[in-house]
Formats: sequence, structure tokens, C-alpha cells
Amino acid sequence: MILSIESSCDDSSLALTRIADAKLVYHIKLSQDQEHSRYGGVVPEIASRLHAERLPEILSKLKIFLNNDFSCLKAIAVTSRPGLSVTLIEGMMMAKTLALALHLPLICINHLRGHIYSLFINNPTPIFPLGILLVSGGHTQILQAHSQTRIAIIAQSLDDSFGESFDKVAKNLHLGYPGGPIVQEMAQNFTKTHRTPHQFPVPLAQSKQLAFSFSGLKNAVRLAIIEDSKDSPLQQENLESICAGFEQSACAHILQRCKMYFQTPSAQEIKFFAIVGGASANLRLRQEIESLCQQYDKKLLLAPLEFCSDNAAMIGRAAIEDYKCKNFTPLSEAQVAPKSLSGDFV
Ligand code: KG4
Ligand code: ZN
Repeated sequence: MILSIESSCDDSSLALTRIADAKLVYHIKLSQDQEHSRYGGVVPEIASRLHAERLPEILSKLKIFLNNDFSCLKAIAVTSRPGLSVTLIEGMMMAKTLALALHLPLICINHLRGHIYSLFINNPTPIFPLGILLVSGGHTQILQAHSQTRIAIIAQSLDDSFGESFDKVAKNLHLGYPGGPIVQEMAQNFTKTHRTPHQFPVPLAQSKQLAFSFSGLKNAVRLAIIEDSKDSPLQQENLESICAGFEQSACAHILQRCKMYFQTPSAQEIKFFAIVGGASANLRLRQEIESLCQQYDKKLLLAPLEFCSDNAAMIGRAAIEDYKCKNFTPLSEAQVAPKSLSGDFV
């Protein structure tokens, strides 16, 4: 079995994955949403301290699950990049300690590759080639995975990410953190009324560039909030209208870019398209991409909702592939990095 560790942002998580059939045997995760909520975003220093407290706490639970017997473990896997250095280091220290004490090899996993493997938890045969829309708090990308090691970046954000823009909209409206589920719920409430929401521009609408941008939309929402609350505080209906209008434009932008991708020659070789990452939980995005996939004859793959946001199960699943080709990192060379390494993507 592989013991995997995830601490790249604000989730402390551990998992046990069986190598032979990729079965997830144990999974535990403690999120820090509540602790960061009052700040409207993740505070790295607080996140790091909470990992230092909680990783040992959940390791004790895993130890009980294993009856104090670690002999079934064959490797330790850990998210080493990209992410917040001060939180990654907490997971890395635990991984190195376990690897050293138990004489096990260490596997360093790129978090974004981990998100791709959230599709194949409990499934021993990953599907390649695969087109992927990765939408998280830190990234918005279209990737094309030809094999487990050859993953090409087709498009990425010029500035902010899809998930982060939901967080910022929620912050500007004082709605809490993480913004994704909150803004989605507000938008859904407004949609029920069948009225037209506050209209925002669709980013890069006139551009042919296969890239994403959310900073302009984020700013348009910020300005609308200032304007609409000039004379009196925003009513619930205004808040919901802004959330619905923002979500509509953000999803329309993603949809336009995915459509552009489906029209490129390289997309012709893929039959499967997936949405992964924390923001892949967005229902509107799922529905709109689903109908686009039908139009372009692609089969849509989605991870179960519980594995969309950060978790160690996806890290353990990705690590099986590394274990099979003995892609181990010597303890003295294992380092954390805030960004992906140049060799991670082609
Ligand atoms: O992948 P993830 O758990 O962490 C990172 O790797 O960043 O993604 C977290 C992001 C947050 O920005 C959160 O607001 C967003 O995913 N998110 C959503 C939804 N649920 C979570 N964004 C839009 N709609 C949602 N339903
Ligand atoms: Zn993530």
C-alpha cells in the first residue's frame, strides 16, 4: 500500500491506496475553511500552523486503523508542488520522517497531476489520451494528457484563476470562504426567479487567444458592488443577481475557450474530456461543458464530488504510476516548490 500526504493549501489529508488494484483503503481529511473564512481567503501562516497540528492528529487515526502495523506500506507519497511553500513543507517533513523511519521510498507528486488522477481513484486503468479542464483555486488550464508522464499545457490563465475569482467575489460581498459553493448557491437562488441577472462582460470575448483571464471580470464585479451599494446596502436580491451574473460570465468564458480547444487539430485525437480541481464541483460549469462535449462527440469524465477539492486519495492514486516505474526521489533531493517544475509538463 502507499501512504499519501496532501498539504498544498488548506486541507490536511492522508490516504492509503492499494497498489495492485488502486483501491482506496483509507482516507481522512481535515479542512480549514472555518479558520480562514473571516479573512475571505487562505492565510498561509495560519494554514501552516494548522497543518503542523492536524497532520500528526490524522496520522494517529491512520495508525489506529493499521493497528500500529506499518508493514503493509511500500512507499510514502507527498504533494511537493505547486502550492504554498509554508504548507507544503509540513507534509514534506512528515513524509521524509516516515520514509526514513520505515525505510520506504519517497514519491513526490505534482498537485495538478494529482487532480487528474482524482478521476481514477479505485480504478486501476487510467484513460489516455485525455483532454482536461483543470479549475482550482490556483489554476485554470486546459491540459492534454497523452500518457501518464506526457501532459501538455494547451491553455492557462494570464492572471487569476476561475476558483479564486469566486473567492474574491464572495470576499467583496462579505459572504465568507471558500467562495465557490457560496456564490453558486446565491446564483442558483436567483436563477429560480427566471429574471435576468446583473450583466458582466465575458472575458477575452473578442480575442482568439487560447487562454483564460479573470482579473477584468473580478474588477467589474468589484466596481458593480461599489456602484450598487452607493446609496443603500445591497439587498439579498442584489447580491444574488451579482453572483448569478458573475457565474454566467465566468462559465461563458470557460465554455468559449473549451470550444476553441475542441476545434484545434490536437483535440481531434481525444475521445474523453475531463473537468478536475476544486471548482469542477460547479454545477453550471458541469452542465454547460457536458452539452459542449455532446456537441463535439467527447465523453465527459468527472471525479466524485468528494474528490474534486484537495485530498490525499488523488495523490496516492497518482503515486501508484510512479511506484510502478520506480520514480522515487532520494530524501536529500526532495524539496517543495511553489510552482511546477519545467519537466512536469511538456
Ligand atoms: O482544488 P482546490 O480544492 O484547491 C486548490 O488546489 O486551489 O480548489 C479550491 C477552489 C476554491 O477557489 C473554491 O472556491 C473553488 O475551488 N470551488 C468552487 C466550487 N467549489 C469549490 N468554485 C466554483 N463553484 C463551486 N461549486
Ligand atoms: Zn487543488
